[in-house]
Amino acid sequence: MAERPNSLAARDIAYHLHPYTNARKHEAEGPLIIDSGEGVYVTDDGGNRYIEGMAGLWCTNLGFGNERLIKVAERQMRQLSYYHSFAHKVPTPVIELSERLLEMAPGDMGKVFYANSGSEANDTAMKLIWFYNNARGRPEKKKIISRLRGYHGITIASGSLTGLPVNHKDFDLPIAGVRHAGCPHHYRFAYDGESEEDFADRLAAELEQQILDEGPETIAAMIGEPVMGAGGVIVPPQTYWQKIQAVLKKYDILLIADEVICGFGRTGKMFGCETFGIEPDMVTVAKGLSSAYLPISAVMMSDEIYQAIADNTAKLGTLGHGFTYSGHPVSAAVALETLNIYDEMDVAGRTAALAPRLQDGLRAYRDHPMVGEVRGLGLIAAVEMVADKASKAPFDTVGKAGAYLDGRCRAHGVILRNLGDTMAFCPPLVISEAEIDTLVATFGKALDETYDWVRGEGLMAA
Ligand SMILES: Cc1ncc(COP(=O)(O)O)c(C=O)c1O
Repeated sequence: MAERPNSLAARDIAYHLHPYTNARKHEAEGPLIIDSGEGVYVTDDGGNRYIEGMAGLWCTNLGFGNERLIKVAERQMRQLSYYHSFAHKVPTPVIELSERLLEMAPGDMGKVFYANSGSEANDTAMKLIWFYNNARGRPEKKKIISRLRGYHGITIASGSLTGLPVNHKDFDLPIAGVRHAGCPHHYRFAYDGESEEDFADRLAAELEQQILDEGPETIAAMIGEPVMGAGGVIVPPQTYWQKIQAVLKKYDILLIADEVICGFGRTGKMFGCETFGIEPDMVTVAKGLSSAYLPISAVMMSDEIYQAIADNTAKLGTLGHGFTYSGHPVSAAVALETLNIYDEMDVAGRTAALAPRLQDGLRAYRDHPMVGEVRGLGLIAAVEMVADKASKAPFDTVGKAGAYLDGRCRAHGVILRNLGDTMAFCPPLVISEAEIDTLVATFGKALDETYDWVRGEGLMAA
């Protein structure tokens, strides 16, 4: 019998595709010391300049050294360097930021809660959903479904939601009550001859079976990135989310859209939810919210969820959740100015217009003997290398070729990120056409050099 694509063996492959490859090699070489940044470039302590093809950690959407963001931060620090949002108080910039976020948010969001990182936002989403179901008298409805190869952070709860074994192993994660569904990566997990749409149908059917096996009355929510990032830039089949959503609705299960990478234009629409027709009940954002100039994240929720939480809070006397820096005024002011700049530059439209330059540029490497798959949309993409193109077999030692390629890219002035043997691309959204061309051409040169090296090392199938 054919092995189920999202089986344990498949998880073993996923195990190696984690964001922190080749720790020993990096330890031996020492870190690359980055000293300054301007536009899409960063410069190291030896004066070498690189295109930051990953926008740092998928986050500096407006590039480095944006004067407007610097000025706003300085002005806000002078006006009100800190205030909190506890005990019925709130700093001014948080009000305008919340209004703006709710105006632009996908779905029907009514309220915002602030935190400082994507992990905290997803933790908060999970806690608020537990609180909500207790408030509604459904204390048994608590489990959260995430997906294999999803990435949602590294705190105890968000790290449990993350579906990459490296983030679990020896950390005693996942915690109880988290379940992982199949990964929508057609290239890796579809059956032979299965179309993208048949694959999406099967994943939805498998999800339904998983829900029935667990008991729908025990499942509170599902969380997912519209396009998976750190798990390997996985673009699901176009109707995958609609099919998944139909299952969730049938069993009264909420959907949390993790827009930490996809949000703010990355996929060519303002939110990944718009790209895939997702109607979320909660949305988490971070990274691009402030273009990573300062730490800030947010959880947006529907009025219905908010109201149940508010009513329960009134009963209990207080909402026992919040961070010292929730809605920090300087981060909020910078985030607000970031949203202004996104509006002015039409960030989603600009990304959609530039997308073919990156995506078609990379697709030109499809026929390369070491390239298994080129995937992506908007300004996020990945090239997956394989030891054998026909069978899609990965390299025996996963991450070795990827680390070499990463090094060659860097030697030619481009910073990318190898997730195992998959090279990820996520440049700042202010990148120009000429800079995209340089990025793509440099990658091609590094790919050829890696191919020569891999053959020299005997890593390719004969
Ligand atoms: C989709 C997604 N969610 C959540 C997180 C966690 O964010 P943070 O590292 O700010 O905690 C990340 C980080 O890469 C992410 O990519």
